[in-house]
Amino acid sequence: MSHVSTGLRGIFERSFFYNAFQKGVGRDRAFQYFVRERLRPQAGEQLLDIGCGTGTILEFLPQDIAYTGFDMNADYIAHARAQYAGRGVFVVGKVEAEYPDFEGRYDAVFAYGLLHHLDDAASEKLFADAAAWLKPGGRFVTMDPVWHEEASAAARWLIGKDRGQNVRSPEGYKALAKRHFPQVEGQTVRGVLRIPYVHYALNCRV
Ligand SMILES: C[S@@+](CC[C@H](N)C(=O)[O-])C[C@H]1O[C@@H](n2cnc3c(N)ncnc32)[C@H](O)[C@@H]1O
Repeated sequence: MSHVSTGLRGIFERSFFYNAFQKGVGRDRAFQYFVRERLRPQAGEQLLDIGCGTGTILEFLPQDIAYTGFDMNADYIAHARAQYAGRGVFVVGKVEAEYPDFEGRYDAVFAYGLLHHLDDAASEKLFADAAAWLKPGGRFVTMDPVWHEEASAAARWLIGKDRGQNVRSPEGYKALAKRHFPQVEGQTVRGVLRIPYVHYALNCRV
């Protein structure tokens, strides 16, 4: 199983509970870091957000970009359409399935907190698709929890409770990316949430 949606964790499949939990653990600061230090959106850019959840990252993106969000959770997408009407286009779908025709249109594709929900086959498909959807010189930017040798026991425990069942090592994330992108830069990210946690961010260029 790649994504746990049953039991106690099933409650987070509902947009209200997901948003309340994410806000509580400090999502805003993590989004600010991701946008400012990793994604670095420029005026007029076309951005594609895979695994966009409830679309909350739009609160941290500038107004002068064009945004498309894609996620398998219909309740999250309904929330995004209601909350951010006019700010973007929101599409329901799974990484493993056929997408709408995104090819060759984006300055940046990004996936915040998605790779650790995907098994290797789905991750390979995502990297290959992202490379195909980017304009020449475009970037694919990700950030996920990581199994890091210096992570505290508390961080390891919390990461182990995530709905995503495919948390990888830094080398694991990087190896996936390198099969599809000639330029890959990785960064361990600590302290962006209020809880003990360690992330790994990738910036991949075609
Ligand atoms: C940790 S959440 C991150 C959501 C959003 N990026 C955010 O930061 O709020 C992971 C998201 O990936 C979506 N997801 C998981 N597996 C997916 C798949 N196979 N195809 C499409 N979306 C998926 C989930 O529905 C969820 O919204």
